[in-house]
Amino acid sequence: MDKTPRERDNFDPQKTSPEETNQEKALRPQAFTEFMGQKELKEKLAIYVAAAKIRGECLDHVLFHGPPGLGKTSLAYILSRELGVGFKTTSGPALEKPGSLAALLTNLEPKDIFFIDEIHRLSHAVEEYLYPAMEDYRIDLIIGDGAGARSVRLEVPPFTLIGATTRAGLLTPPLRDRFGIQLRLDYYQNQELAEIVTRAAQRLRLDVTPEGALEIARRSRGTPRVAGRLLRRVRDYAEVRAAGIIDQPTADKALKLMEIDQRGLDQLDRQILKAICLKYSGGPVGLETLASTVGEETDTIMEVYEPYLIKENFIYRTPRGRKATALAFKHLGLEPPAPETLFDNPKDYE
Ligand SMILES: Nc1ncnc2c1ncn2[C@@H]1O[C@H](COP(=O)(O)OP(=O)(O)OP(=O)(O)O)[C@@H](O)[C@H]1O
Ligand SMILES: [Mg+2]
Repeated sequence: MDKTPRERDNFDPQKTSPEETNQEKALRPQAFTEFMGQKELKEKLAIYVAAAKIRGECLDHVLFHGPPGLGKTSLAYILSRELGVGFKTTSGPALEKPGSLAALLTNLEPKDIFFIDEIHRLSHAVEEYLYPAMEDYRIDLIIGDGAGARSVRLEVPPFTLIGATTRAGLLTPPLRDRFGIQLRLDYYQNQELAEIVTRAAQRLRLDVTPEGALEIARRSRGTPRVAGRLLRRVRDYAEVRAAGIIDQPTADKALKLMEIDQRGLDQLDRQILKAICLKYSGGPVGLETLASTVGEETDTIMEVYEPYLIKENFIYRTPRGRKATALAFKHLGLEPPAPETLFDNPKDYE
């Protein structure tokens, strides 16, 4: 029997407990040199930072988009350090009223970075106020209503807005267009993740062999946050069962115990694949149906699970829903159906 999400929750590499959030913060890279991978993106940012410094201006507004846990928040923070400016942070859902946006903006120091996480979740009302703030460093607040309403203009110090989102497609075009710098973060290579694991292990004073680090990296879904989390769980295992040393066999055994398979898929990944392959005969199946079948939220499937399953060629999108590839059947130990009956060419839908 597949487990329900509640039962599954005792270890979910995708979810963060408050205690883990603190551990994650402790491991957060503080400078470009500590931020592994994303070579081209870092190179571009380093140039923009240097140019802004030479001109004595604030950095243009930046939008980071890409799947969760790839380093968007870390990069925003690093930018404030590299620029030597303050870092103020909020999030789309937290900014409920234009008044709270105005309060935050008017309290900035010149050139500060103002970070809005989950910027796709800003309300329309707040978003409208952000436009003139981004363009002309001013806010026109409407005070009162009806005939007595009047508009008050507030000056805002020049600042850099950094927005982060896992769903760039949900941003309205006027908002997106106001970001002079737009950068997409992509999944990391195994070697880069192994480097991240090795560095995190050094900071945690753990004994990890290169093979042990690579094993954790290979099973981290291309995601630094997952790599950090798996490392901490493998450490628990190593301390109890393997005299604290994380080598490849120890990492492998620990990850097996967590039900993370050879390809880095966890229980919910496999439930998704099973649902498409078995219950819906390979698909197509709509996202909502799929989410309710596996008992998870549609957004979580769409933002966290699906992008990786697509990237690894287990599933693909069609106009009528998600379909499984032959690889998905094989991964579950199932016989793939004859190609002509089930599979159309994924390329047709790209
Ligand atoms: N390039 C990197 N090098 C080293 N560590 C990294 C890197 N990217 C991310 N990390 C680690 O992964 C953790 C998660 O990264 P971060 O919080 O920046 O991701 P995010 O993209 O903002 O995720 P979300 O979309 O969920 O907000 C960080 O605390 C950091 O320890
Ligand atoms: Mg973040």
